[in-house]
Amino acid sequence: MARRIIATEAMEEDSRLENTLRPQLLKDYIGQEKLKENLKVYIEAAKQRSESLDHVLLFGPPGLGKTTLAGIIANEMGVNLKITAGPAIEKPGDMAAILNNLAPGDLLFIDEIHRLNRQVEELLYPAMEDFAIDIVIGKGAAAKSIRLELPRFTLVGATTRAGMLTAPLRDRFGVVNRMEFYTNRELEQIIRRSAGVLGVEIEPEGAAELAKRSRGTPRLANRLLKRVRDFAQVKYDGRITKDVAVFALDLLEVDKMGLDHIDRQILITMIEKYNGGPVGLEAVATTIGEDAGTIEDVYEPYLVQNGFILRTSRGRVVSDLAYRHFGLPSGR
Ligand code: ADE
Repeated sequence: MARRIIATEAMEEDSRLENTLRPQLLKDYIGQEKLKENLKVYIEAAKQRSESLDHVLLFGPPGLGKTTLAGIIANEMGVNLKITAGPAIEKPGDMAAILNNLAPGDLLFIDEIHRLNRQVEELLYPAMEDFAIDIVIGKGAAAKSIRLELPRFTLVGATTRAGMLTAPLRDRFGVVNRMEFYTNRELEQIIRRSAGVLGVEIEPEGAAELAKRSRGTPRLANRLLKRVRDFAQVKYDGRITKDVAVFALDLLEVDKMGLDHIDRQILITMIEKYNGGPVGLEAVATTIGEDAGTIEDVYEPYLVQNGFILRTSRGRVVSDLAYRHFGLPSGR
């Protein structure tokens, strides 16, 4: 029980930290340059016309700043931000209530939008397209459909799995954008900015080491920064140098390429149990006791992008790079 409470507090602290480190304006948002340039134009154009912004779909691996961007869009447009998530909206009535409570121009952010159920999703179609929904009141012969007009609003949908969205939903977004992993240089900038917000001193080499090991992901970079700060404070003089970062990150079992315990487990399992592949995702997931969807959404994108895993028509294959990373002779 006590352990559960501690875990919860740590998670709350993480999410508080994430909120304080979030940039509020587009000019303070680092990376995703193309998306930023485009959004700047769309926001400016909508404001000039005094219209709401078109609906926006953001997809890509977790932790790349989808929620942060939704907050920035709301700030830049000068509108309210309402946040919800696909699994939280169980019935069409829940969705109708959320939509009916929107004020003109409001930005509604739906995280994990691929997890909306069918009936809820279908209610969104006319809401997004015509800013109206049809509600059935009563039952049987007395049932009556009434049309409820909604204010113009902007829907920002976020998903880790664009492939799981239905075509009718995807087609109703005017702006569809993929979030990319951040470069080490961008992560360094984010880490230095976050260190400034937290009031911790960090040397450029310390920031570079943290960036290298953050899997291209700002959420992870900020989380690791916080952990490294603790080590710097307790074991050293408070400054994050390269040595402090290396010491702390090694203890946290984040390796030189940013791979964590589960990344390594995935690769080692593929090498040792499946001879390096080809192997199906489900088989790997069952072997290490992880959810296949989590591996596909959270772990695999980085491993594929960085060439540790190759996706072939016959299944996943471990690359030579992965063998070298573990100091093993190549499998083939
Ligand atoms: N904090 C988290 N993500 C960020 C980003 N993309 N730019 C600046 N600060 C961030």
